[in-house]
Amino acid sequence: MHPVLRPLGALDLDRAAAMHGEAFVPFGERGWTRQEMAELLASPGVAGLLLEIDGVDVGMAICRVVADESELITIAVRPAHRRRGAARRLLAAVLDQVRAAGARSLFLEVATDNPAALRLYELSGFCVVGNRPAYFRRGDGPAADAYVMRLDLG
Ligand SMILES: CC(C)(COP(=O)(O)OP(=O)(O)OC[C@H]1O[C@@H](n2cnc3c(N)ncnc32)[C@H](O)[C@@H]1OP(=O)(O)O)[C@@H](O)C(=O)NCCC(=O)NCCS
Repeated sequence: MHPVLRPLGALDLDRAAAMHGEAFVPFGERGWTRQEMAELLASPGVAGLLLEIDGVDVGMAICRVVADESELITIAVRPAHRRRGAARRLLAAVLDQVRAAGARSLFLEVATDNPAALRLYELSGFCVVGNRPAYFRRGDGPAADAYVMRLDLG
């Protein structure tokens, strides 16, 4: 097994958009287009990471740093590669990156009906600090509530 973590670049936009769709369309959410992914990655303070294992795309994460705060914008692991520590590995790399950029806290928003992500974040030390009702739009169905979670990096 040969894992490689590297920055998400302009040549990875299609792959990153595909991974995002594969992860979030099953929730009834909309996958980001290549163009949306490109615009996001070009925004100030935003950086993405791609995890490949043996040359195969496994997952990706995108974060943003603004002054001493940071945000995990998205994290996704391809279904066939889940429960093998890929998200933990991506999250650890995000933490290293945002700390190095001067962040003292990392925020994220997670749907309250996403037990896999909630467990991952709780085990990683995040605490719920807020609630956003009807935050994630899901097609024609009801929108999902979100928790705001925070990890102290100090
Ligand atoms: C959430 C997600 C990123 C986890 O990726 P993963 O690579 O499978 O996670 P890991 O293997 O690193 O798991 C780390 C820990 O998280 C918890 N966890 C992960 N998936 C879980 C699941 N389906 N049910 C319960 N706990 C889970 C476990 O505690 C796990 O440790 P363990 O396997 O030793 O028990 C992945 O399921 C995914 O891409 N989901 C769709 C997108 C998504 O929900 N992103 C987060 C939005 S905020």
